[in-house]
Amino acid sequence: MKKEISRREFLLAGTAVAAATLAAPVVGASPAWESEGQRNMQSTTMPKRYLGDLEVSALGLGCMSMAGIYNPPQPKEKMIPIIRSAFERGVTFFDTAEAYGPFLSEEMVGEALEPFKGKVVIATKFAFSFNGTQATGRDSRPEHIRQAVEGCLKRLRVETIDLCYLHRIDPNVPIEDVALTVKDLIREGKIRYFGLSEVSPNTIRRAHAVQKVTAVQSEYSMVERVMEKHIFPVCEELGIGFVPWGPTARGLLTDKYNDFSQLDYRRAAISYFQKEALEANQALLAIIRDWAERKEATPVQVALSWIIAQKPWIVPIPGTTNPDHAIENIGAKNVHFTQAELAEIRNSIEKVTVMGVRTPDQTLADQ
Ligand SMILES: NC(=O)c1ccc[n+]([C@@H]2O[C@H](COP(=O)([O-])OP(=O)(O)OC[C@H]3O[C@@H](n4cnc5c(N)ncnc54)[C@H](OP(=O)(O)O)[C@@H]3O)[C@@H](O)[C@H]2O)c1
Repeated sequence: MKKEISRREFLLAGTAVAAATLAAPVVGASPAWESEGQRNMQSTTMPKRYLGDLEVSALGLGCMSMAGIYNPPQPKEKMIPIIRSAFERGVTFFDTAEAYGPFLSEEMVGEALEPFKGKVVIATKFAFSFNGTQATGRDSRPEHIRQAVEGCLKRLRVETIDLCYLHRIDPNVPIEDVALTVKDLIREGKIRYFGLSEVSPNTIRRAHAVQKVTAVQSEYSMVERVMEKHIFPVCEELGIGFVPWGPTARGLLTDKYNDFSQLDYRRAAISYFQKEALEANQALLAIIRDWAERKEATPVQVALSWIIAQKPWIVPIPGTTNPDHAIENIGAKNVHFTQAELAEIRNSIEKVTVMGVRTPDQTLADQ
């Protein structure tokens, strides 16, 4: 007998095969910004979005933890298939940085995506100086940026970096000098688009006045929402895309890391996983769980699709080292909310006092 595939399984798999097996519509009400064409294709294809003028898949893949940070560095033989499988499922936007590893993440991304040149957008970041594999500080002097970019190009195995971010501000170098250097590198064909990470609204404006900024990257998720107050309005005004890192709140919103006694690095290092915060944030998780039931999706799929639904110029980049998690996360593309549902969710989550998150004022300063 043919096995019935539930919508939940479909969302987990996110494959065309599953789509073909289902007779009934598999998606909820469509979001306001999608065209009729997009709506008809949504069960089998990955929607596209624009960050400034740069077209990318509506969901990206974060490749940081593949090189360590949250866990020991992972073998490239295991990570490259995850990156390629994401591409096969429609992901065309990959996030890395020279600091991840350092260098290891860029090397894995470069090797994994070499066969797909011209079909993918790779974003990387510069900002730091290194002594061998030890980061020694921030350095955005023009000559150092040039040196860093050459290293990124080599490791990524490309002639041009699609999107190159300043990872963190160097307090000793005015942002105008950084933007001017990037402008020159764009003229020389080494970089296509310029991005900024963890910066204040004022820095975004100053940089954008010198060289068009395509994307701003900072932490944003259903639990960490402070970017909405000061950063989103600037992005909207200047036509800049926003790329949330930590879109699953480093696993919190997957609903799989609720037992404090069993927690890994999260217990030591992440504010919203501290015992009291984890308990307080259960109220938010209860809302997400409820919506996961309503949408026959998983909690992380609700968390990611909620981000996508906030603005048409937001592209989350969930990070993972686990092939099943990657597939689950990509399945978020098939979860949609009506405007009324979004209002209902907003109303519920704003009643919860979340703990361990930034204050809105912190977004007024460069990190
Ligand atoms: N600009 C910046 O300063 C900055 C800072 C941090 C990160 N980033 C970028 O943003 C990307 C994403 O951010 P992030 O990695 O910090 O946060 P994230 O994507 O919210 O969380 C990643 C963590 O959640 C776990 N996870 C993800 N999907 C899961 C699932 N479906 N089920 C269970 N666990 C899951 C991962 O573990 P598993 O590996 O076990 O799946 C990992 O520990 C990074 O890869 C990096 O490219 C940028």
